[in-house]
Amino acid sequence: SIYSISALLGAYLLGSIPTAVWLGQAFYGVDVREYGSGNAGATNTFRVLGKKPGIAVMTIDILKGFTATKLAYLIGLSVTGPKHSVQFVNYELALGVIAVMGHLFPVFAGFRGGKGVATLFGMILAVNFPAAMLCVSVFVIVLLTTKYVSLSSICAGFTFPIGIVFVFHTSVKAEVLYSICVCLLILVTHQKNIERLLKGKESKVYLFKRKAA
Ligand code: G3P
Repeated sequence: SIYSISALLGAYLLGSIPTAVWLGQAFYGVDVREYGSGNAGATNTFRVLGKKPGIAVMTIDILKGFTATKLAYLIGLSVTGPKHSVQFVNYELALGVIAVMGHLFPVFAGFRGGKGVATLFGMILAVNFPAAMLCVSVFVIVLLTTKYVSLSSICAGFTFPIGIVFVFHTSVKAEVLYSICVCLLILVTHQKNIERLLKGKESKVYLFKRKAA
Protein backbone atom coordinates (compact mmCIF):
# COMPACT_ATOMS: atom_id res chain seq x y z
CA SER A 1 0.00 0.00 0.00
CA ILE A 2 0.90 3.64 -0.20
CA TYR A 3 1.50 3.65 3.58
CA SER A 4 4.01 0.82 3.42
CA ILE A 5 5.84 2.36 0.48
CA SER A 6 6.04 5.74 2.23
CA ALA A 7 7.33 4.07 5.38
CA LEU A 8 10.03 2.10 3.52
CA LEU A 9 11.10 5.09 1.45
CA GLY A 10 10.89 7.39 4.47
CA ALA A 11 13.13 5.09 6.51
CA TYR A 12 15.76 4.98 3.77
CA LEU A 13 15.67 8.74 3.21
CA LEU A 14 15.86 9.44 6.95
CA GLY A 15 18.82 7.10 7.32
CA SER A 16 20.40 8.71 4.27
CA ILE A 17 20.66 12.12 5.92
CA PRO A 18 24.46 12.44 6.10
CA THR A 19 24.51 14.34 9.39
CA ALA A 20 28.29 14.27 9.85
CA VAL A 21 28.97 15.42 6.29
CA TRP A 22 26.34 18.16 6.20
CA LEU A 23 27.06 19.51 9.68
CA GLY A 24 30.79 19.58 8.99
CA GLN A 25 30.34 21.29 5.65
CA ALA A 26 27.77 23.80 6.90
CA PHE A 27 29.50 24.93 10.09
CA TYR A 28 33.18 24.16 9.53
CA GLY A 29 33.55 23.97 5.74
CA VAL A 30 34.97 20.49 6.20
CA ASP A 31 34.00 17.07 4.87
CA VAL A 32 34.88 14.84 7.84
CA ARG A 33 35.37 11.95 5.41
CA GLU A 34 38.63 13.55 4.33
CA TYR A 35 40.12 13.42 7.82
CA GLY A 36 40.62 11.05 10.75
CA SER A 37 39.17 7.62 10.12
CA GLY A 38 37.38 8.93 7.02
CA ASN A 39 34.07 7.81 8.52
CA ALA A 40 30.94 9.93 8.25
CA GLY A 41 29.87 9.38 11.84
CA ALA A 42 29.65 10.92 15.28
CA THR A 43 33.00 9.50 16.42
CA ASN A 44 34.95 10.94 13.53
CA THR A 45 33.12 14.26 13.83
CA PHE A 46 34.18 14.35 17.50
CA ARG A 47 37.72 13.45 16.48
CA VAL A 48 37.99 16.00 13.66
CA LEU A 49 35.72 18.86 14.75
CA GLY A 50 35.24 18.49 18.50
CA LYS A 51 32.83 17.62 21.24
CA LYS A 52 29.79 19.79 20.39
CA PRO A 53 29.43 18.76 16.73
CA GLY A 54 30.24 15.17 17.72
CA ILE A 55 27.38 15.10 20.22
CA ALA A 56 25.07 16.81 17.72
CA VAL A 57 25.79 14.20 15.04
CA MET A 58 25.36 11.38 17.56
CA THR A 59 22.00 12.73 18.72
CA ILE A 60 20.63 13.27 15.21
CA ASP A 61 21.88 9.88 13.99
CA ILE A 62 20.23 8.14 16.97
CA LEU A 63 16.99 10.03 16.19
CA LYS A 64 17.17 8.88 12.56
CA GLY A 65 17.10 5.23 13.63
CA PHE A 66 14.47 5.84 16.30
CA THR A 67 12.12 7.79 14.02
CA ALA A 68 12.53 5.41 11.07
CA THR A 69 11.59 2.51 13.34
CA LYS A 70 8.50 4.34 14.52
CA LEU A 71 7.36 4.71 10.89
CA ALA A 72 6.06 1.18 11.51
CA TYR A 73 2.87 2.91 12.66
CA LEU A 74 2.37 3.95 9.02
CA ILE A 75 2.51 0.32 7.88
CA GLY A 76 0.22 -0.58 10.76
CA LEU A 77 -2.38 1.74 9.23
CA SER A 78 -2.53 -0.34 6.09
CA VAL A 79 -2.76 -3.69 7.83
CA THR A 80 -6.27 -5.02 7.96
CA GLY A 81 -7.39 -7.51 10.54
CA PRO A 82 -5.84 -8.11 13.95
CA LYS A 83 -2.58 -6.33 14.51
CA HIS A 84 -0.19 -8.72 16.13
CA SER A 85 2.45 -7.09 18.21
CA VAL A 86 4.97 -9.61 16.91
CA GLN A 87 4.25 -8.51 13.37
CA PHE A 88 4.57 -4.88 14.42
CA VAL A 89 8.02 -5.55 15.87
CA ASN A 90 8.95 -7.11 12.53
CA TYR A 91 7.99 -3.90 10.72
CA GLU A 92 9.92 -1.84 13.23
CA LEU A 93 13.05 -3.94 12.84
CA ALA A 94 12.82 -3.96 9.04
CA LEU A 95 12.44 -0.17 8.93
CA GLY A 96 15.29 0.31 11.39
CA VAL A 97 17.58 -1.83 9.26
CA ILE A 98 16.56 0.09 6.12
CA ALA A 99 17.44 3.35 7.90
CA VAL A 100 20.83 1.89 8.81
CA MET A 101 21.34 0.94 5.15
CA GLY A 102 20.55 4.56 4.30
CA HIS A 103 23.14 5.68 6.82
CA LEU A 104 25.74 3.29 5.36
CA PHE A 105 24.88 4.15 1.74
CA PRO A 106 23.35 7.66 1.76
CA VAL A 107 21.78 8.81 -1.49
CA PHE A 108 22.54 12.40 -0.42
CA ALA A 109 26.30 11.90 0.02
CA GLY A 110 27.51 9.76 -2.87
CA PHE A 111 26.60 6.55 -1.00
CA ARG A 112 29.63 6.98 1.28
CA GLY A 113 28.21 7.10 4.79
CA GLY A 114 29.06 5.89 8.28
CA LYS A 115 29.11 2.63 10.20
CA GLY A 116 25.59 2.83 11.55
CA VAL A 117 26.28 2.47 15.25
CA ALA A 118 24.24 5.47 16.42
CA THR A 119 21.43 4.70 13.98
CA LEU A 120 21.36 1.06 15.13
CA PHE A 121 21.23 2.27 18.72
CA GLY A 122 18.22 4.47 17.86
CA MET A 123 16.49 1.42 16.45
CA ILE A 124 17.23 -0.69 19.53
CA LEU A 125 16.05 2.16 21.74
CA ALA A 126 12.72 2.09 19.91
CA VAL A 127 12.16 -1.67 19.93
CA ASN A 128 13.76 -2.81 23.17
CA PHE A 129 14.54 -0.10 25.70
CA PRO A 130 16.06 -2.39 28.38
CA ALA A 131 18.36 -4.02 25.81
CA ALA A 132 19.39 -0.57 24.61
CA MET A 133 20.31 0.41 28.18
CA LEU A 134 22.36 -2.76 28.60
CA CYS A 135 24.19 -2.11 25.30
CA VAL A 136 24.89 1.52 26.14
CA SER A 137 26.23 0.55 29.58
CA VAL A 138 28.69 -1.88 28.02
CA PHE A 139 29.61 0.77 25.43
CA VAL A 140 30.36 3.39 28.10
CA ILE A 141 32.32 1.00 30.33
CA VAL A 142 34.50 -0.22 27.45
CA LEU A 143 34.99 3.35 26.19
CA LEU A 144 36.01 4.71 29.58
CA THR A 145 38.43 1.84 30.18
CA THR A 146 39.98 1.43 26.70
CA LYS A 147 39.26 4.80 24.95
CA TYR A 148 38.49 2.92 21.73
CA VAL A 149 35.06 3.82 20.32
CA SER A 150 35.25 1.07 17.72
CA LEU A 151 35.95 -1.60 20.36
CA SER A 152 33.10 -0.20 22.47
CA SER A 153 30.75 -0.44 19.46
CA ILE A 154 31.83 -4.03 18.80
CA CYS A 155 31.38 -5.04 22.45
CA ALA A 156 27.96 -3.35 22.54
CA GLY A 157 27.13 -5.18 19.31
CA PHE A 158 27.85 -8.54 20.94
CA THR A 159 25.92 -7.50 24.04
CA PHE A 160 22.73 -7.05 22.00
CA PRO A 161 22.07 -10.71 21.00
CA ILE A 162 23.56 -12.02 24.25
CA GLY A 163 21.31 -9.70 26.25
CA ILE A 164 18.24 -10.49 24.15
CA VAL A 165 18.66 -14.23 24.70
CA PHE A 166 20.26 -14.66 28.12
CA VAL A 167 19.27 -11.56 30.08
CA PHE A 168 15.82 -10.69 28.72
CA HIS A 169 14.83 -14.17 27.51
CA THR A 170 13.10 -12.70 24.48
CA SER A 171 10.78 -15.17 22.80
CA VAL A 172 10.28 -13.06 19.66
CA LYS A 173 12.24 -15.03 17.05
CA ALA A 174 12.60 -12.05 14.71
CA GLU A 175 14.20 -10.03 17.47
CA VAL A 176 16.76 -12.73 18.22
CA LEU A 177 17.57 -13.06 14.53
CA TYR A 178 17.87 -9.31 14.05
CA SER A 179 20.05 -8.93 17.12
CA ILE A 180 22.47 -11.44 15.63
CA CYS A 181 22.35 -9.55 12.30
CA VAL A 182 23.08 -6.26 14.11
CA CYS A 183 26.12 -7.82 15.75
CA LEU A 184 27.38 -9.20 12.42
CA LEU A 185 26.72 -5.87 10.69
CA ILE A 186 28.83 -4.05 13.27
CA LEU A 187 31.64 -6.55 12.71
CA VAL A 188 31.43 -6.00 8.95
CA THR A 189 31.44 -2.20 9.13
CA HIS A 190 34.31 -2.24 11.63
CA GLN A 191 36.68 -4.48 9.65
CA LYS A 192 39.29 -1.75 9.22
CA ASN A 193 38.96 -0.80 12.92
CA ILE A 194 39.49 -4.45 13.90
CA GLU A 195 42.65 -4.58 11.76
CA ARG A 196 43.91 -1.38 13.41
CA LEU A 197 43.02 -2.65 16.90
CA LEU A 198 44.95 -5.88 16.29
CA LYS A 199 47.97 -3.89 15.09
CA GLY A 200 47.67 -1.53 18.05
CA LYS A 201 47.14 1.36 15.60
CA GLU A 202 43.55 2.35 16.39
CA SER A 203 43.18 5.98 17.50
CA LYS A 204 41.90 6.61 21.00
CA VAL A 205 39.15 9.05 21.85
CA TYR A 206 39.29 11.03 25.07
CA LEU A 207 35.91 12.25 26.26
CA PHE A 208 37.45 14.50 28.86
CA LYS A 209 40.45 16.67 28.26
CA ARG A 210 43.51 15.37 30.04
CA LYS A 211 45.26 17.79 32.32
CA ALA A 212 48.45 19.12 30.82
CA ALA A 213 51.46 17.73 32.66
O1 G3P B 1 30.74 5.10 15.27
C1 G3P B 1 31.63 4.25 14.63
C2 G3P B 1 32.74 3.93 15.61
O2 G3P B 1 32.50 2.68 16.19
C3 G3P B 1 34.08 3.96 14.96
O3 G3P B 1 34.27 5.16 14.27
O4 G3P B 1 35.60 6.89 13.13
O5 G3P B 1 36.69 5.43 14.82
O6 G3P B 1 36.03 4.48 12.62
P1 G3P B 1 35.72 5.51 13.68
